[in-house]
Amino acid sequence: MHRLPKINYYDIERIIEFDFVRATEAAALNSLRWLGRGDKEAADAAACDAMRGMFDLMNICGEVVIGEGIKDDAPGIFKGEQLGTWLPGAPQFDIAIDPIDGTTNISKGAPNSISCIAAASPEEGVKVALRDVPSFYMSKLAYGPRVIQYTQKRGDSLYLDAPIAETLAIVARAVDKRVQDVVVMMLDRPRHKEIVEQIRACGASLRMIGDGDIAAAMAPSLPESDVDLYMGIGGSPEAVLAAAGIKCLGGEMQCKMWPRDEKERKQLIVDGNEKDLEHIFTADDLAQGENIVFCATGISDSALLRGVKSKGTTAITHSILMRAKSKTVRLIRAMHNLQNKTIRLRSDNREHLI
Ligand code: FBP
Repeated sequence: MHRLPKINYYDIERIIEFDFVRATEAAALNSLRWLGRGDKEAADAAACDAMRGMFDLMNICGEVVIGEGIKDDAPGIFKGEQLGTWLPGAPQFDIAIDPIDGTTNISKGAPNSISCIAAASPEEGVKVALRDVPSFYMSKLAYGPRVIQYTQKRGDSLYLDAPIAETLAIVARAVDKRVQDVVVMMLDRPRHKEIVEQIRACGASLRMIGDGDIAAAMAPSLPESDVDLYMGIGGSPEAVLAAAGIKCLGGEMQCKMWPRDEKERKQLIVDGNEKDLEHIFTADDLAQGENIVFCATGISDSALLRGVKSKGTTAITHSILMRAKSKTVRLIRAMHNLQNKTIRLRSDNREHLI
């Protein structure tokens, strides 16, 4: 029997996508024992070890184009790292990764932490699919398909810099609610004081979260979520991961670089980013093209996914897996038998029971 000639895959993401979920599942399961134990670095290290271990089994040439860690010197997976086997001929992927978004939440045993990956295979004409934004933070506005349909009918759009009252009025009409019933999610940070006051003055209902704005920004795009709008200033890498997910869900996100201080603004200008400082990036600008896979697994409960639940010898994980091209959204509830389930860790290249 002869082997078939090498297939020139039209849709390589279709072949490999479930392995990305295995990686976020492994990160979630391996970090679970750190839930509520006050050690976010240990949780992050456990997630990274399991993710790297899973990638070591994947026959891809993966390059991390957006890593984590610039925020707080976390023990993360950084930009430039190579993931996968890198065997000759293996398909190439640019990877944006956050083994845990919401490490502080894990250390406190609080809700809202997920593990997630966006991966893009190079597409003709697309130079950089997942954009590495140079600022530390971005100002973000994210909304779902209903808002898009409504504004398109009117021939306009929401606008990141528009007065908040105007934005809330449009969203209320789009989702068929009174303004006081519109739910806005936001990170609970002192820098949001003014926006919070304005939202409250309009009467809309806030949901403040401690950490984890990837899930929060994606929430308005989920059909069953109670969140209508995500607003506020959060990390730039998280913006790109959220953009990839939102794109697959048919929602939209607008973002603008938000330098923390004059020093950062000047540095951005020195580095040649002046023209981008006022630019409003859409989900498509941050995650370009159609060959994009997004997946995430819940660690603790969030607006996007339920967290890991353990009962006896079973752990149940909840994941989402989507592709920008097909727009198929898979919600994967996996039951892991803890007597059999092993996770491969990079640290010693061995399989471990959880
Ligand atoms: P980590 O899990 O990497 O700590 O990030 C959590 C997070 O809340 C992100 O979701 C968010 O974008 C960013 O931190 C906000 O940064 P800051 O905590 O500095 O306001």
